[in-house]
Amino acid sequence: MEKLEFPDGFVWGAATASFQVEGAAHEGGRSESIWDVFCRRPGAVYAGENGDVACDHYHRYKEDIALMAELGFQSYRFSIAWPRILPGMTPDAGTGAVSKEGVAYYRSLCEELHARGMSATATIYHWDLPQALQDRGGWAERFIVDAFEAYAQVCFAELGDMVDRWITLNEPYCSAWLGYDEGVHAPGIRDLDQAVRAVHHLNLAHGRAVRAYRQTGLAAPIGITWNPQTPRSATAREADRKAALTARAVETDVFIYPVLGRGYPEIVTKELGFSFPVKDGDMDIIAEKIDFIGVNYYTENPVAFDPAARFKYRVQPSWEDVSAMGWYTVPEGFERQLRWLASLSGGIPLFITENGYARDDRPDPSGRVHDRERIDYTRRHLAVCSRLIREGIAIKGYYAWSFLDNFEWAYGYSKRFGIVYVDYATQKRYPKDSAYFFRDLIALTGA
Ligand code: BGC
Repeated sequence: MEKLEFPDGFVWGAATASFQVEGAAHEGGRSESIWDVFCRRPGAVYAGENGDVACDHYHRYKEDIALMAELGFQSYRFSIAWPRILPGMTPDAGTGAVSKEGVAYYRSLCEELHARGMSATATIYHWDLPQALQDRGGWAERFIVDAFEAYAQVCFAELGDMVDRWITLNEPYCSAWLGYDEGVHAPGIRDLDQAVRAVHHLNLAHGRAVRAYRQTGLAAPIGITWNPQTPRSATAREADRKAALTARAVETDVFIYPVLGRGYPEIVTKELGFSFPVKDGDMDIIAEKIDFIGVNYYTENPVAFDPAARFKYRVQPSWEDVSAMGWYTVPEGFERQLRWLASLSGGIPLFITENGYARDDRPDPSGRVHDRERIDYTRRHLAVCSRLIREGIAIKGYYAWSFLDNFEWAYGYSKRFGIVYVDYATQKRYPKDSAYFFRDLIALTGA
């Protein structure tokens, strides 16, 4: 087995997101998000489940953080719920009042982390858009850029002394493509034009938030988290290679290229005819300098040319073992992807902000969960990080997805990604074997 070696200062973290774990949907003055509404749409979410209670993390964050700290984690990546901070925000009336309860919750969560010697990594937007903003078109309309900037400014003003690392957006690919094109995520829209506009507005909102952040004088690093889809070509045929590049351009380059100052890729603007609603100055704002890149990686797919497909590519079957999500375990794909990112990003530090494995976990009678496959998956992906760091690629930290089993979006509670098992009936937490794997790894390598 390949040796796992990590340098001093490497950050070991665990991650969650507000809608997936907090619950307390009707407390603290929180307003509705697009996910509350999507969950009520018949057939949208597995078994009609919702985020009303989730892991009750809103009430249990202290014990959850205590468990993270006990396991040795050094950082917690959580997300801030926009509808908790600005519950009265509307496109016409501006931000409305800042919620004292909402701010107090995240301040006290950060205090708890600091008291335990852990750092706070806050994602400003992990998909829970206030429904009042979606009612006017959400990410498909340009007003959302001002709205996001105003919300981010409130986060910086109210939490800037507490947060150690800022992430503007989590996986804009999912917000735009799954939310507005495929319709499998909230707001559940199927409209390519809206999705293309959402891509640009997400990119611009990110840039505007970074620019606003630079004006605050705060010193904590700020970056963005992508889930780059970097499919491989199923064969060596030229048409399939081109299909793989097209897939990457549509799903990934449209986010990464503009932020790295390369503009929108020609494959989508010239060949596919995507028309992003770019105004003067937008591309400079999107390319505001960032301090790190967050990478969420789970899998890689082979793709082939398909003349009948909308964008002329189609995912092909593969041979690797799959998780409970049906996702192939492809650590080689992680390596390919990180090398590609490192070649593009000019040395901007990378953080793995999510990586993990869904499994049909069940505690044994003594309450232990023997999640061997998750440990193997993690070990193989960490081996990639270890190897690339030795080669000089700047990977600065790794956050396990997820700390807790939680609301897995359209799959409801049916998919378990946690390194800690959650019994939803009692809200009791059971560390899985993978939690102890991390404990030992951090004890041996974490400085
Ligand atoms: C998201 C998480 C999600 C995980 C597993 C990522 O796409 O950021 O919210 O639970 O992957 O699907």
